[in-house]
Amino acid sequence: MSSNQPIGIFDSGIGGLTVANAIHKILPNEQLIYFGDTAHLPYGDKSPEAIRSYSLKIGRFLLDQNCKLIVIACNTASSHAYTKLVEAFADKVHIVNVIDPVVDFLADNKAFQKIGVIGTKSTINSGVYTNKLKIAAPAKEVSALATPLLAPMIEEGFYNNNISHTVIRSYLSSPELYSIDTLVLACTHYPLIQKEIDEYFNGKVTIINTAKIVAEHIKNTLVKLDLLNGGIPADHQFFVSDFTSSFENSTRLFFGEQIHLKLKNIWE
Ligand code: DGL
Repeated sequence: MSSNQPIGIFDSGIGGLTVANAIHKILPNEQLIYFGDTAHLPYGDKSPEAIRSYSLKIGRFLLDQNCKLIVIACNTASSHAYTKLVEAFADKVHIVNVIDPVVDFLADNKAFQKIGVIGTKSTINSGVYTNKLKIAAPAKEVSALATPLLAPMIEEGFYNNNISHTVIRSYLSSPELYSIDTLVLACTHYPLIQKEIDEYFNGKVTIINTAKIVAEHIKNTLVKLDLLNGGIPADHQFFVSDFTSSFENSTRLFFGEQIHLKLKNIWE
């Protein structure tokens, strides 16, 4: 394996771009290859079996692109497919999920005691955050709430407007989140509405930006593996399984005009 190989990143859609963007900011010399599975979006209401099968195909595709590390930039796929991807590919490529680095970060920090977690139905029903935090930090209180409308809403470009304000307010006023001091955005789409969430809580709740935590973890991992790219990276590449203009707009928003968006059918 060599340090100039790319980092592969995938999500159901634009959410993983928040992770890709955070990685690009702290590791500007790395080439990124992104796969947005827009044909199967949203993952949050799919069965664990379906999510595992999509993730395995995408993992294979990223491996074929010669990636040195694959980031499952989706909490839903991290909840259900991480173990399968490790079983299938860990002897060939390093695999990172977006949950473990966040759990470690929360466990290590005394300031976070009453933790709320919001995510897709599938992530929340899997109990992954509650279970992992129970082991890593048993003294902390954790309450989780499924917020299934948020990812499709964001994917359709509804954020920072009246519709998103109403939906966000309705979810965040749920009893599960009454007395929290910390809120984990356990869906990689949610950093796009972080400002609105922050405004709702009026700065009284710490919002955890998971993309940044995961990017730091990836940097440390590459340093440990001696795989940090020191040279000039090749251009990033962005693949989607179905073309949507909102994906293209969001990709341009994060990575500028010079993106190469390609339609890729990996399901046959
Ligand atoms: N961004 C994804 C996550 O982190 C999934 C959203 C969806 O496709 O439902 O869970």
